[in-house]
Amino acid sequence: MIGTGQRGRNMAIRTKLVAGNWKMNGLREDGAALARALRDHAAAAGGKPGCEVLVCPPATLLSTVGGVLAGSGIALGGQDCHAAPKGAYTGDISAEMLADLGCTYVILGHSERRHGHGETNAVVRGKVAGAWRAGLVAILCVGETQAQRQAGEAVEIVSSQLAVSIPDAVTAASLVVAYEPVWAIGTGLTATIADIAGMHAEIRSRTPPGTRILYGGSVNPKNADAILGLPEVDGALVGGASLNADDFWAIMQSCPAR
Ligand code: 13P
Repeated sequence: MIGTGQRGRNMAIRTKLVAGNWKMNGLREDGAALARALRDHAAAAGGKPGCEVLVCPPATLLSTVGGVLAGSGIALGGQDCHAAPKGAYTGDISAEMLADLGCTYVILGHSERRHGHGETNAVVRGKVAGAWRAGLVAILCVGETQAQRQAGEAVEIVSSQLAVSIPDAVTAASLVVAYEPVWAIGTGLTATIADIAGMHAEIRSRTPPGTRILYGGSVNPKNADAILGLPEVDGALVGGASLNADDFWAIMQSCPAR
């Protein structure tokens, strides 16, 4: 791991990223309708929404959504991948398969995978390596539980997630870190601005200079200004609010010009 202490450097070259994690939501017509609405917003913005925009639909919708978004400037990503390129892994999807569908990103180590599917940091590390092998940017999710924060262990937990989950070949271009406190996901609770700024600075000191660090956890159009206005926050990973095109687009408008 890199601990260069280069906090705040290269800020000018970090393009902000607002990513929608649709989780397990939507049938084909829902996904197509949401993608069309996003495409219309992008067209109205002249194809230049002011930040990089990414949607991560369920795997079943990647083809449909990718088709609607082709040429819109909105990127496509997966929500998980297997570490191996192919093989006897029933139900799994490889990073190569995501790339084949037009994905350029994949979310890895989301707390819903860590807690619902028992994914360890070591498992996540293998997936990150798989993503890089296929040319995808890995969005690595880290974050503490409420009990861990109350015990004063938040920084320690996030540090060990970073230390074990990030392969040695890391570069700022191949990695995005999403700080998602587990207790803030889908609860309407958000970390305080001071806690977000503090944890992002910790993450920055443990990742290559220029690595983008997103915040995730109940981001919505009302709190987006305060969160995305922080200089240490390079974007947002949005769950529930990304299922509404107007809300998702409104969040993007909170990215200040850098
Ligand atoms: P919510 O925005 O619904 O809290 O979800 C956050 C999240 O888990 C994004 O990956």
